[in-house]
Amino acid sequence: MSEIASEAMESEFGTVAGWTEEAVRALGPEHAVPAGCRGSGSEGALRWLADTLALRAGDRVLDAGAGVGGPAGWLAADRGVRAVCVEPMAEAVHASRALFGLPSVVALSQALPLADASFDAAWTLGVLCTTEEKPAMLAELARVLVPGGRLGLLVFVAEAPLPPPLPEGNSFPSPAEVDALLAQAGFAVTGTADADLGDSPPEWQRRADAVEAEVRRRHGDHPAWAQAEEQSGRVGRLLGSGALRPRLLTAVRSGPTASVDQVT
Ligand SMILES: C[S@@+](CC[C@H](N)C(=O)[O-])C[C@H]1O[C@@H](n2cnc3c(N)ncnc32)[C@H](O)[C@@H]1O
Repeated sequence: MSEIASEAMESEFGTVAGWTEEAVRALGPEHAVPAGCRGSGSEGALRWLADTLALRAGDRVLDAGAGVGGPAGWLAADRGVRAVCVEPMAEAVHASRALFGLPSVVALSQALPLADASFDAAWTLGVLCTTEEKPAMLAELARVLVPGGRLGLLVFVAEAPLPPPLPEGNSFPSPAEVDALLAQAGFAVTGTADADLGDSPPEWQRRADAVEAEVRRRHGDHPAWAQAEEQSGRVGRLLGSGALRPRLLTAVRSGPTASVDQVT
């Protein structure tokens, strides 16, 4: 199952995820986390979220839209949490199992195959802006969190209409829309920060670059590579111009869980 918004996103999040697993296997396991953070991108952002959410050893943590599992893999190794990944692209789920040994399931975050109140915390990094079904996604996250459960987000926000060319399939909310969506789903915001996606240590960046070069060497003439490059290039240009901003948020599930019908 994928039901993801566009063919370009299938290439970027599916095909390239499989190639990333292949390249990490070739280069060595120390490359897995840096190469596996496709969206969160920086160790500083992960550290800020883990600290602000006060994640501790043994916490049950859901990564919704986990990609190839880099952020959840980092979190499990750095904080000793019990991480579970949900991700619609089968190639990415295969990678998070193979590279990090994480329990991972193929599903969309607006239809989580998980029990009510089964997680202490969840995070979703670079995912809210990839779906139009934001209320349903946040309602599902509220449902699977315990009362008082903590939620972390990395969201790419835009204050004004963005100049084309836009990355296909994305729907970037404004900061005010994110706040309203969270409130509607029963979350109270506890922390916000602007993310600096370039603040990883040099070794982290060097390993991520090495995996990208290896994928290009193996598959650079494939149309899916060009499509994925075009997508990430468009996001990069918007971030570079400041029109799009990476925003980190933490929230707590405060109120009664709203049903999807109530928030749509
Ligand atoms: C920018 S990537 C971020 C991946 C990962 N969170 C990270 O930070 O490395 C966005 C991810 O969201 C996934 N995705 C897209 N729509 C989704 C949805 N409705 N529910 C869950 N995941 C979704 C994509 O397949 C992709 O893996």
